[in-house]
Amino acid sequence: MLTKELIRELKQTNLSELYSLIRERQNSKDLVFVLENLGFLPKDFDVSVITPLLYHPNNTVRLLAVKNLGKLARPEHIPEIFEKAKHDDDSIVRREAVSSIGRMRSKENISFLTKLLYDQDPKVVVQAIRGLLVFKEDEEVRERLRFLIAHPNEMVQSAIRREFFSDKNGDNSNQSHPISPDFMKNLVVCGDVREILKTVPDQSVHLTFTSPPYYNARDYSLYESYNTYLDFLMEVFNGVHRVTKEGRFLIVNTSPIIIPRISRSHSSKRYPIPFDLHARLVQSGWEFIDDIVWLKPETTVKNRIGGFMQHKKPLGYKPNSVTEYVMVYRKQTEKLLDWNMRSYDEKTIQESRVSGNYETTNVWKIDPTFDKVHSAVFPAELCRRVVQYYSYKGDLVFDPFAGSGTVGRVAKSLGRCFFLTEKDESYFEYMKSKAQKNSSPMFDEKQTKFFSLNEFIDSTKQEK
Ligand SMILES: C[S@@+](CC[C@H](N)C(=O)[O-])C[C@H]1O[C@@H](n2cnc3c(N)ncnc32)[C@H](O)[C@@H]1O
Repeated sequence: MLTKELIRELKQTNLSELYSLIRERQNSKDLVFVLENLGFLPKDFDVSVITPLLYHPNNTVRLLAVKNLGKLARPEHIPEIFEKAKHDDDSIVRREAVSSIGRMRSKENISFLTKLLYDQDPKVVVQAIRGLLVFKEDEEVRERLRFLIAHPNEMVQSAIRREFFSDKNGDNSNQSHPISPDFMKNLVVCGDVREILKTVPDQSVHLTFTSPPYYNARDYSLYESYNTYLDFLMEVFNGVHRVTKEGRFLIVNTSPIIIPRISRSHSSKRYPIPFDLHARLVQSGWEFIDDIVWLKPETTVKNRIGGFMQHKKPLGYKPNSVTEYVMVYRKQTEKLLDWNMRSYDEKTIQESRVSGNYETTNVWKIDPTFDKVHSAVFPAELCRRVVQYYSYKGDLVFDPFAGSGTVGRVAKSLGRCFFLTEKDESYFEYMKSKAQKNSSPMFDEKQTKFFSLNEFIDSTKQEK
């Protein structure tokens, strides 16, 4: 029977039997097993048992043949491995061939790897970039790679920037990553967020979680056209991008909305806000991370299916919308999430660990919350999850469209600080009244400040 132990033993004591074992195996499954378990190969290993397998019909056999040949790191095999990298039918085999050449870390292979930088398959190009990483300090290699900065593929661009031409000015704030400006902590500002953002310093917030005004669906949100509305949102989210720390998150809750028909002779119109906004956000430097679906009980949403239930006529089907989107984006960076995590001290990391139950899927079942003053408040549970999963203790959490201030209240209760902006004076006063009544943990803290736009601008001047 074919076992790992047998392969190991033959490798040590009887190489010729191991060769026959490989040569005689016709069955791909057995061949894969042997090739996978060959491990370290002795210097005098006879490659003639492996090279025919480079042309085996099974992709995995070919991949493992390339890998084993690469392990021997013999210069005479490079042209053959290079041929595999260029012409194998399977892209995974091609990548493995590039990776095998790279792993040899030999200066003689630079010319092979640089030829592969012109490959059609971006994954092959990325693998070649990685293979050249050991020659990072070699000016000639850098020059040969430079043209890739303008490569049309985003994976290639990201790899070349991260590995060779990283933007040293990426994180240009003077502050260390976990620190945010004191004057913005636990502050509510009344005014148009676009004006307020103009005086907020670069890279000062760690997380933004918000639910923007819905296009012309409520009185507080009237716009000339849908495009004007999307432009307005992008003006805000571009500002948020500037004030967000490197590699941190923007989480936006929206859903398609419906503008009801004005009479029986008109039809209602549905606007797919999350989808239209998504394309714009991604173009503006926000990297898409996740689409979380907030699922509400059917009894809590508007009944749209009623008409269809009566007539049952095809085309007239209108399902009840029980979902909203919680779209997760990260400020684009070459840095890995690890970089963000490592910027916190051990105590903060330990204290911020998510304990107890946590959601394991991207469908979050949460009941909506209704408020007597504000018509579209976040459920505290939704905020709790977002704040816990996407920020660390002590971080500054921003909601540009604060409404009744749920994000701030929850952030505070989880040991984070908040920065809120709200245009509507009545909602601003509502938040203030909560502070006066001492009815909410967010606002009963002495250090919570409520500023007008001018007061805020003055406070930023004092900081400078
Ligand atoms: C959907 S509500 C947010 C509700 C909030 N999530 C809560 O839990 O109460 C959107 C809010 O954005 C505010 N708003 C609209 N335009 C704004 C602007 N230009 N600047 C600041 N706030 C604005 C509206 O007044 C409204 O309160």
